[in-house]
Amino acid sequence: MPQILQNVSLTNRNTFGVEAYAQWFCEINNEVDLKELYTSSLFHNQKLLVLGGGSNLLFTKNFEGLVIHLNNKSIRYNIDGDDVFVSAGAGKNWNELVTFCVDHEFAGMENLSLIPGSVGASPVQNIGAYGVELMDIFHSCRAFEIETGNIHEFDNAACHFSYRNSIFKQKLKGKFIITEVTFKLSKNFYPKLDYGEIKKELKIRGLLNPSIVNVSEVVSHIRINKLPDPATIGNAGSFFKNPVIGVEKFGHIKSVFPDIIYYIVDNDHFKLAAGWLIEQCGWKGKVIGNTGTWKNQALVLVNHGKATGAEIFNLSSEIINSVQKRFEIVLEREVHII
Ligand code: FAD
Ligand code: EPU
Repeated sequence: MPQILQNVSLTNRNTFGVEAYAQWFCEINNEVDLKELYTSSLFHNQKLLVLGGGSNLLFTKNFEGLVIHLNNKSIRYNIDGDDVFVSAGAGKNWNELVTFCVDHEFAGMENLSLIPGSVGASPVQNIGAYGVELMDIFHSCRAFEIETGNIHEFDNAACHFSYRNSIFKQKLKGKFIITEVTFKLSKNFYPKLDYGEIKKELKIRGLLNPSIVNVSEVVSHIRINKLPDPATIGNAGSFFKNPVIGVEKFGHIKSVFPDIIYYIVDNDHFKLAAGWLIEQCGWKGKVIGNTGTWKNQALVLVNHGKATGAEIFNLSSEIINSVQKRFEIVLEREVHII
């Protein structure tokens, strides 16, 4: 039976660095550990929280229940013609996996370099950055069903991926613990350079035919310049999703705010840059007590030191209110509020 600890600090286990305690805490090394934990009454009688790297959640209070942290970090791969199938344990650090694949010249993940967090959380919100989403390279995952203790396998279609969304945030929220993810990568490298900033930086570096390593390095460089490093300033990346709105509403907003930053999703939908909306409301770089928004990216809420989760949450509510007042758009939090 894996050890269950009581009253464990989570302050170093969330990238906001806010103080919170877990009533119970258990570290899991493999699926056998999970099956054993399943036989304990705590597993069934307590609220459960699967905690990866804590880089997409905000603790607003202590967690009264059992926190489960997966520690399985294995990587296996299998080459089939031009395809490379890489399987990684849920506890593996995401960027360590990306680095492994980049070093082996397995193409597909390089645009997702330097995203914090664990492999196990990556399908939950279908992580994405710089023109690539997890769903583009996701093959399947293994997941432990909390109610029955059985292992299920989900293929790409079964996960119902969309922008920052999956079945694990919707119908199956809180019902499965993802234990391993398999990615379909390629031995052939077709760089995805649509994102303007990548092209610009490659040009500065004189890289006309970039390698996988070049793209990974350029993405990392852009991210380091734009986003605060949680090791020095607490944050969870984008606090809100970029809102997707219908064509009619978009037409109205564009006529009032012609400079609005947007992307075409399809014939009927437009995605707005939430960072721009928040900046227009005067929040960019603002310091409010122990909290604020990041000076280079208004979409990122930060902990300037000793902020509580509740303070950060209250700031997010104020931002939602002011954006709604000015643009009649309700921002949705991307970060999981605990
Ligand atoms: P956690 O925060 O620990 O958990 C997040 C959610 O997933 C929780 O609901 C948790 O219960 C659930 N969960 C975790 N592990 C499992 C599991 N094994 N099984 C089932 N459920 C699980 N995200 C992007 O998409 N793109 C970015 O560019 C990006 N940039 C970021 C930059 C910074 C500086 C930071 C701090 C965050 C950024 N993020 C980004 C957000 C974050 O890195 C991702 O959401 C990441 O996947 C979270 O992983 P985690 O292990 O920290 O998850
Ligand atoms: N912008 C502003 N003001 C700001 C911030 C942004 O005007 O304060 C403008 C930028 O100038 C740019 C546009 O908004 O024209 C978009 O900004 P950026 O390229 O920084 O990307 P984003 O839409 O803010 C999204 C993801 C990030 C991801 C980047 C790169 C969401 C919610 N966020 O941010 O993901 O890294 O694109 O692909 O989709 C995360 O999810 O935590 C995250 C960091």
